[in-house]
Amino acid sequence: MHRLNSANRQFAPLRPFVRWTALAQAAKQRSKPCCARRSGPGFALFLGPRRRRDLLSHADDHNGDRRDFLYYATAGTGVVVTGAAVWPLVNQMNPSADVQALSSIRVDVAEVLPGSQLTVKWLGKPVFIRRRTQEEIDAANQVQMDELIDDQARNANLPDGDSAVDGNRYLTPFGEDDGPTGEWLVMIGVCTHLGCVPLGDGAGDFGGWFCPCHGSHYDTAGRIRQGPAPTNLAVPVAAFVDATTIKLG
Ligand code: FES
Repeated sequence: MHRLNSANRQFAPLRPFVRWTALAQAAKQRSKPCCARRSGPGFALFLGPRRRRDLLSHADDHNGDRRDFLYYATAGTGVVVTGAAVWPLVNQMNPSADVQALSSIRVDVAEVLPGSQLTVKWLGKPVFIRRRTQEEIDAANQVQMDELIDDQARNANLPDGDSAVDGNRYLTPFGEDDGPTGEWLVMIGVCTHLGCVPLGDGAGDFGGWFCPCHGSHYDTAGRIRQGPAPTNLAVPVAAFVDATTIKLG
């Protein structure tokens, strides 16, 4: 009895620490997964090493599953939020509905007589639609390639690199009987120098178009023949959809 009391006195300073350790141990047990808590260290002593390993790995599976779920949920939420924030910025770069509606237009050319020209606005630019006379067609055909400043067709309906012979510049008619071959010439009416709109109806030294801004002369096939413009007038995507209707775009 005397020895017991003396031992109690000897360990008295350690009592708070022992009490804190017991509380910490209890809290730790509460935070474990249910299967691990139920088994406990004492229980595990009665199990074989294999069963103990199974219990431990099962507890790890629970933690891993929860961690994976949180990871994927966070990542998925991040992707959705980022997409929702970025989409309006990307979408505003698409052409508006009215621009898309105008990307292709049809032009009635039934009233355009030989030797006259119709100018329409397409995608914000003037487009010359000229019905050439036979004299204009002949003049374009007589030009030799080495007389041209730009020997490229510049025709969006043909492959890049095709030559600027008159046959690669005019619009193919709808049918064989729809007028002389080469009668229709369709071009973007913008000077290839600095963007002025050239004068037409036989203007300039070559009977085609003339740009007064800096003096560029185009022939009856819209090819640059004199002046600072570097290339021929561009031919846009165009086709006859019937005998009197041209579709641009
Ligand atoms: S813009 Fe036509 S010649 Fe300069």
